[in-house]
Amino acid sequence: MKNDVIIACDFSSARETFAFLDLFASESRKPFLKIGMELYYAEGPEMVRQLKRRGHPIFLDLKLHDIPNTVRRTMRVLSNLDIDMTNVHAAGTVEMMRAAREGLTRPDGTRPLLIAVTQLTSTSEERMQQELLIDASIDEAIAHYARNAREAGLDGVVCSPLEASLVKAACGPEFLAVTPGIRFADAASDDQVRITTPARAREIGSDFIVVGRPITAAADPLGAWHRCLAEFCPETLKNA
Ligand code: C5P
Repeated sequence: MKNDVIIACDFSSARETFAFLDLFASESRKPFLKIGMELYYAEGPEMVRQLKRRGHPIFLDLKLHDIPNTVRRTMRVLSNLDIDMTNVHAAGTVEMMRAAREGLTRPDGTRPLLIAVTQLTSTSEERMQQELLIDASIDEAIAHYARNAREAGLDGVVCSPLEASLVKAACGPEFLAVTPGIRFADAASDDQVRITTPARAREIGSDFIVVGRPITAAADPLGAWHRCLAEFCPETLKNA
């Protein structure tokens, strides 16, 4: 499993997405892209197919959370899209996560990486305890949900980079930590709270970083992507 930078394509149309990706047209290495609910609900599966045809690895970030049967059947449909990574909410239970893995597994036994959202980074410990009635610290809840995901046979979790070491301690070094909340040392934090730099994310155990606005809203998005690669996974640049 190679470390990589995943660009969050938080756009609301194919037109906007392709205008952004035109900036990367001269690159032989195609950036790993995250398609979230906004773009997927706007443009549908054809968007995924087109980006795959252009050679981009895809993380389809739809965060499924439903009864196990529905999740299994939905994952079966998504497995036909030839994506590289997708996810569910760990709150859906171990049974639901197992169903997701079964649905995603193709007849030949291969499947995309499957990871779980533990607690959203927008959920504070106070709200989790008061509104969700989870009587634990947020770190305990994250470690517990990560162990549930591992028990269900998933490959890792989405978490804040500052939680990566907690997840590795609970589930082992091979269990993936996919981490948003990345900002350059000299930049604004926007609405993200628990943030760190690409270089520090690598040091503390992230396997993949998910980077949105520091690249998509940069004056020079291509330069910002290169900066992320140079900080987070310089070895991939040598092989480019
Ligand atoms: O622009 P920014 O770098 O903050 O984008 C981060 C991306 O990661 C967004 O697509 C956001 O939805 C996603 N994400 C997150 N925190 C989570 C899960 C996903 O920021 N806990």
